[in-house]
Amino acid sequence: MQLLLRCWLLLLARATDDECAEESCAMSALQRRAAQLSFDASDALEEAFAVATLSTGPPSFALCGGKSYDKSQENCCGGEIYSLTSQGCCGNSSVYTFAKQGCCNDEQVFTYGVENCVPHKLKPDWVNPNVTFECAEDWPPANYGNYWLRYCAAGQHMAWAMTPSCKVGWLSVKQDNLEDAEKQALDACQAKATAYNGETCYVFDRDGGGCRRQRCGTEMYDASVCLGSAL
Ligand SMILES: *[C@@H]1O[C@H](CO)[C@@H](O)[C@H](O)[C@H]1NC(C)=O
Ligand SMILES: *[C@@H]1O[C@H](CO)[C@@H](O)[C@H](O)[C@H]1NC(C)=O
Repeated sequence: MQLLLRCWLLLLARATDDECAEESCAMSALQRRAAQLSFDASDALEEAFAVATLSTGPPSFALCGGKSYDKSQENCCGGEIYSLTSQGCCGNSSVYTFAKQGCCNDEQVFTYGVENCVPHKLKPDWVNPNVTFECAEDWPPANYGNYWLRYCAAGQHMAWAMTPSCKVGWLSVKQDNLEDAEKQALDACQAKATAYNGETCYVFDRDGGGCRRQRCGTEMYDASVCLGSAL
């Protein structure tokens, strides 16, 4: 700092030599220049401060498919950069746009209104260990969709009994306890099944344990998040 000031003094002394022979005159010229200098410096600081506060925190960059992206705004999905606010990453591999697409079972991108998503990961809370129902994977089948919806809305205690082929079924709702509901559903189911094809009935659902899974026409949906689409 000392050196800098001396240099200024020297420069000023030289520049003002002609009109400013006295030392006091040179000093006041120096003071004017110093005031000018500090004004410029604060201007530059102001600008630097503005630039620093414009960006929200230090930007953090990462690489995605060989390209760099800002981690506060974007993310990487299967080697593709996507926007955190308007897009998602499906199955860690495909980018989809919230406004018009969904991610089906965290596996596959589908377009609303064009493709359906069958929520096969909506496993029922309870599954009968004694029997495999043929229609369980695609439950409820189209011809049971409305019954299933009404069964689910009816209220506990309730049970749905069915044959393994899913050809004969019977339900019981609004019972005092689960045992009564199961017995009534099983007895009525068995009477129908014996007359129809001799199959045995088993309990398929207990107290609506599988009711998140619903069908509306050809579309499957999760009733716990979009009940409105059924009404
Ligand atoms: C996606 O990646 C995360 C973290 O590596 C992992 O926990 C998750 O199971 C993955 N999901 C799929 C659908 O592969
Ligand atoms: C499964 O079979 C066992 C043995 O017959 C029986 O005790 C049990 O109640 C059955 N479970 C159901 C849910 O039907």
